[in-house]
Amino acid sequence: MIEIKGLVKKYGSTVAVDNISFSVERGELFGLLGPNGAGKTTTISVLSTLLPATEGAAVVAGCDVAKDADGVRRRIGVVPQEIALYEDLGARDNLNFWGRLYGLSGKDLQRRTEEMLEAVELGEHARQKVSSFSGGMKRRLNLAAGLMHGPEVLFLDEPTVGIDAQARGKILALIRRLNEDGLTVLYTTHYLEEAEQLCDRIGVIDRGKMVALGDKDDLIRQIGDEDTISFLLPPERLDELLTLSTKWDLVGDVEHRRGCARLRVRDTARVLPEIQMWLAGQQLPLDHLEVHRPNLETLYLNLTGRALRE
Ligand SMILES: Nc1ncnc2c1ncn2[C@@H]1O[C@H](COP(=O)(O)OP(=O)(O)OP(=O)(O)O)[C@@H](O)[C@H]1O
Ligand SMILES: [Mg+2]
Repeated sequence: MIEIKGLVKKYGSTVAVDNISFSVERGELFGLLGPNGAGKTTTISVLSTLLPATEGAAVVAGCDVAKDADGVRRRIGVVPQEIALYEDLGARDNLNFWGRLYGLSGKDLQRRTEEMLEAVELGEHARQKVSSFSGGMKRRLNLAAGLMHGPEVLFLDEPTVGIDAQARGKILALIRRLNEDGLTVLYTTHYLEEAEQLCDRIGVIDRGKMVALGDKDDLIRQIGDEDTISFLLPPERLDELLTLSTKWDLVGDVEHRRGCARLRVRDTARVLPEIQMWLAGQQLPLDHLEVHRPNLETLYLNLTGRALRE
């Protein structure tokens, strides 16, 4: 349904998307996961024909983005990262506006507007001005706007940013339902938990490059079954830790970045108390001592050496 080969997008000398390739099957819910500035919005902009690619090719719903932009536009819905709604209009009028823009009119437009208001549970607020909406309600209406013309593929660009957990849950449930009804979804996020909960397959993008790609469970399995222990450690104490850690049966080397030590251990129950005792004995802070079970975040850390939310 989406096929991307060697996609590059430069803004002047900035390489925002750096030779990425992936595909999304029909009916799939694909997550593009990455931190700020990774290139998520740029990728969506190219796929939705808002920006031309610098190099590479992309086919969306059977249409080449470079050669058949109109074809792509008819078949896709885009829910932009920045909310695109008229604050002074009601929910219904906003949807009518977007519907007309997509070429709907008359009875079709009316019917679709009411359907979408119900789908995003805003039927009771149809006449209320968007300016009085909560963040979650705006996000839901923004989503409905992208669905007005019944697209085959939906691009969702961080649709849950800035809203509370309950509102987020509602949006995720809605997306899952749309996907179960057959909609192909490309979902971008910088929330690991969302990608983990929602998506079948995931691409991890960092500084324009795809650093991991595949089935979510496979990706997590790749990291192995070892826990990661991390804690604050001044660089001058690293040598002591290295000496100490020789008896801990570690996986890989001790890493030390930005004042934080990380080690992967097979036997947390034995190693953790020893680390605690050592830190306490050295009067080093204990409050940043953390144990991570392998999850997407571990994968991300292993791949990039950075946490996703910094
Ligand atoms: N219009 C533009 N002109 C110049 N550089 C840009 C432009 N848009 C984005 N960039 C740069 O391209 C890179 C990728 O940006 P992009 O917006 O695609 O990332 P993102 O993953 O969507 O980030 P965020 O999570 O912050 O939305 C960044 O380095 C950004 O500064
Ligand atoms: Mg973005």
